[in-house]
Amino acid sequence: MEQFEFVSRSPGDQCETHLGGVVRKVLPSELHLVRDHLLRLDADARQRRFSHNVSDAFIENYTAKLGNIGNMTFGYFIEGRVTAVAELKRSRIGWGHTAEAAFSVEQDFANKGLATLLMGRVIRSARNRGIRQLQLYCMADNAKMQAIARHYHADLRFEDGGVIADIVPKRFDYLSIVAEAFDDRFAIAHAVIEMQNRIVRSLKA
Ligand SMILES: CC(C)(COP(=O)(O)OP(=O)(O)OC[C@H]1O[C@@H](n2cnc3c(N)ncnc32)[C@H](O)[C@@H]1OP(=O)(O)O)[C@@H](O)C(=O)NCCC(=O)NCCS
Repeated sequence: MEQFEFVSRSPGDQCETHLGGVVRKVLPSELHLVRDHLLRLDADARQRRFSHNVSDAFIENYTAKLGNIGNMTFGYFIEGRVTAVAELKRSRIGWGHTAEAAFSVEQDFANKGLATLLMGRVIRSARNRGIRQLQLYCMADNAKMQAIARHYHADLRFEDGGVIADIVPKRFDYLSIVAEAFDDRFAIAHAVIEMQNRIVRSLKA
């Protein structure tokens, strides 16, 4: 299988998007923004994201566990909200050699390349943690998700009425490590500014 290399042209060059928002890791203290994003998904998007219908209570429970060790969440932040999310999850305790990825983008932000951009981040982080097989599950009729997986040279196979996309990240190197470390520093700075903005908004409300 072809190995995929994701390397930013320079560290941090894709944090700020052409849409005006920012793509970065979600800090554990910000997971309520991911919960709010998942709660805003309509029934069809929830079904596609989780492969079955899920209630608000399920989403509350699910997001409470996103901060567990081995999980990593990326978000698209705009105007104090997270409107697109990518998750990287270990397949077993600790960072083994396999991991799963999952994506969700709100309808108003669809078809603007956000899931594609987030997928690049997921692959880079998987690569930097020695992941040799990154898997993505989606429904058989999810042509968009399959297009994104193909964009990153995934092998697609049909199984149990769904599609499994296998991606083999390249081995980490100096540039991939430095680029992620740089983005992480940016993420912390951006999170502090976002927190200040939230406080100001709540005082005004
Ligand atoms: C699937 C999903 C994540 C895509 O997010 P997005 O930000 O709109 O996707 P992008 O804009 O990055 O890319 C969409 C790609 O699909 C292609 N596409 C759009 N409509 C398509 C269609 N009907 N058939 C095939 N490809 C299509 C686009 O051309 C683009 O590919 P390209 O960049 O090669 O041109 C989003 O629709 C979503 O959240 N769906 C519900 C949850 C879900 O399905 N998650 C996946 C399982 S975990």
